[in-house]
Amino acid sequence: MPFNTEKFITESTAKISGQVGEKHAVIALSGGVDSSVAAAIAQRAIGNRLHAVFVDTGLMRLDEAKHVKEMVAKAGIDLHVVDAADEYFKALSGVDDPEKKRKIIGEKFIRIFEREAKKSGAKVLVQGTIAPDWIESGGSGRDTIKSHHNVGGLPKDMGLELCEPLRDLYKHEVRMVARALKLPAEISERQPFPGPGLAVRIVGEITPEKADIVRRACAIVEFEIEESAKRGEIERPWQYFAALLPVKTVGVRGDERHYNYTLVVRAVRSLDGMTINFSPLPPALLERMSTRITNEIRHVGRVLYDVTNKPPATVEME
Ligand code: XMP
Repeated sequence: MPFNTEKFITESTAKISGQVGEKHAVIALSGGVDSSVAAAIAQRAIGNRLHAVFVDTGLMRLDEAKHVKEMVAKAGIDLHVVDAADEYFKALSGVDDPEKKRKIIGEKFIRIFEREAKKSGAKVLVQGTIAPDWIESGGSGRDTIKSHHNVGGLPKDMGLELCEPLRDLYKHEVRMVARALKLPAEISERQPFPGPGLAVRIVGEITPEKADIVRRACAIVEFEIEESAKRGEIERPWQYFAALLPVKTVGVRGDERHYNYTLVVRAVRSLDGMTINFSPLPPALLERMSTRITNEIRHVGRVLYDVTNKPPATVEME
């Protein structure tokens, strides 16, 4: 039977009403399609007893907080932004193991939401967790591929009850629900962005300088790929971004030697993120991105293109 969006919306609204009752809830709203759909349904269920919070970890896209606030306002959601960048950089300083990084990020999220919940008296945390998040986080005999920040990264002693209305859905189904809810297309068609943000696009230790490099490179990749898609040169990939490798290589500018970072550009085709194929982007587009990145971000001396599928790779680097 095809997925019935109206039935899903009606049933999940009733389920949230039943779980939350007369209590207040906070929602972790990142502005991605998953958390935006969860917020829209929860708002139907409990109205202004829902408090939407965006945590700026310092590992978000360029101007993300401002952009998300404006975007969700169009869907009638008033977003409270918490600036936690310093807190995150401090907690992640010196940590280079991918799973440790994910656990620290997941724990911090919860501590921040507990703090925010106290302010409004909320007892419930609504999250836009979807099926691949918990499937890849392991358990029930499955291997842990990576601890998604909102599942395997959660601390055990959490002081909030979890409510996850989208737990059984895949990304393409969430997009169908977003369209049925008439959320703006910039939300329903938005490319996925991982909860831990740029942390999983910086291989190894995270520093504010590295975050700044990846953020600017991601903005260039997004812009060039979206413009190319608008011109009809390519089909817009499912997801596209840049990631920083912990490798410096030798290069030359003019007649001067330099020794700088290596960036990877990744663009993939997929339906649900469980399996992916790399997008065969045209050489002219690859060259444009590479030239812009090395010209505009002087700390980058080399740009690579990732031609690996999932499996055996994953979408993100960590
Ligand atoms: P991977 O890297 O596991 O990514 O192949 C599959 C999809 O999930 C996103 N991703 C995450 N999303 N929390 C999220 O909300 C996470 O911890 C997380 N890790 C990866 C990734 O961007 C891709 O769309």
